[in-house]
Amino acid sequence: MAHPALFKPLRVRNLELANRIVIAPMCQYSAEDGRMTDWHHIHLGQLAMSGAALLTIEASAVLPEGRITWGDVGLYDDATEEAMRVTLESVRRWSDAVVGIQLGHAGRKASTEVPWAGGHQIAPDDAHGWQTVAPSAIPFDPGTHAPVALDRDGMVRIRDAFAAAAKRAARIGLDFVQIHAAHGYLLHQFLSPLSNQRTDEYGGSLENRMRFPLEVFDAVRAAFPADRAVTVRVSATDWVESGWDLEQTLAFSKALEARGVDAIHVSTGGLHPAQKIPVGPSYQVPFARAVKQAVSVPVVAVGLITSPEQAEAIVATGDADLIALARTVLYDPRWPWHAAAELGATLRAPKQYLRSQPSKHRHLFGVDGPVGPTPTWVRDDDGAYR
Ligand SMILES: Cc1cc2nc3c(=O)[nH]c(=O)nc-3n(C[C@H](O)[C@H](O)[C@H](O)COP(=O)(O)O)c2cc1C
Repeated sequence: MAHPALFKPLRVRNLELANRIVIAPMCQYSAEDGRMTDWHHIHLGQLAMSGAALLTIEASAVLPEGRITWGDVGLYDDATEEAMRVTLESVRRWSDAVVGIQLGHAGRKASTEVPWAGGHQIAPDDAHGWQTVAPSAIPFDPGTHAPVALDRDGMVRIRDAFAAAAKRAARIGLDFVQIHAAHGYLLHQFLSPLSNQRTDEYGGSLENRMRFPLEVFDAVRAAFPADRAVTVRVSATDWVESGWDLEQTLAFSKALEARGVDAIHVSTGGLHPAQKIPVGPSYQVPFARAVKQAVSVPVVAVGLITSPEQAEAIVATGDADLIALARTVLYDPRWPWHAAAELGATLRAPKQYLRSQPSKHRHLFGVDGPVGPTPTWVRDDDGAYR
């Protein structure tokens, strides 16, 4: 393939993306009181060297009670900001990947155990637990401790916390902020009629249910530097009868576009335990395609995208502008290298790794590419070629 679409550069506001491969946000449940640890150093470091153009830091809570688990990363005080700054500093030193952060609040899905300890809800009186909040006092799982319905002061506090976290993200030099409005967390809880049964101006009609998420968007957009991108991740459907669906997602996407969103990342589900998801390769791509037809900002597709040909087809046919990887890139952190090799593209790699290429993939980093001329880089100190 002469010029694979997957490896065409793209500019999105300040983001100079070398290719169309995005690393999706992935919680690591390995923070200490919201502070990144050396695990994040290792984890983000290796992903930043994957060859993907863009790396999204995991869902980071804007308030301590907005964490999904007690091990989640936060960006809500000086200590959490400083821990992230230190991690980011070393990632930046060795990688030119675009790096941003997903900011979120888990709402009624907060206060849970880390996944490898079962992932169950922890009641407020139990160790590591706290009282959750949500648009309405409806628990995610019937029979578990109910959230407290937010009053106007509580909502203002959360909106302002999103803005404050965006300011911290700007201060430590993150390239973009992604607002988490997907997967059944707080902003999605406001959007879906299944979790939002408020009778004030924030519940009922679609316009009312979108009101708080849009207020949060406006607050983040105003707080983050105007020349840096703000994106939103949505769930395009609840996969539950009478829930949030594609039609409402299109209306929400258009409202975000009117307010200046820079890209929309299209996922699905996570709001309701009764969801029935027809999981399979590219199963969420039709939703990305529909959003792309409704707006003119770039759209990201995600979900069981595992092969280079599949990713290439999604971008080349215009289903989405970018593809995001989560499990695929955990399993194979050099997936972008392998995709470039398979599709006949070149990409940048750390100079320390230039000798890694097997001879059949010598073209991978580009003979005249930015990483320096070949074949000298495959030459050993003793002059032997490997
Ligand atoms: C370990 C792990 C952690 C995740 N954490 C987040 C997260 O922080 N925020 C989010 O929006 N999605 C999160 N997700 C969902 C992924 O971003 C992605 O949407 C999903 O896994 C589907 O993509 P995939 O098939 O490439 O894994 C997570 C997924 C995994 C596997």
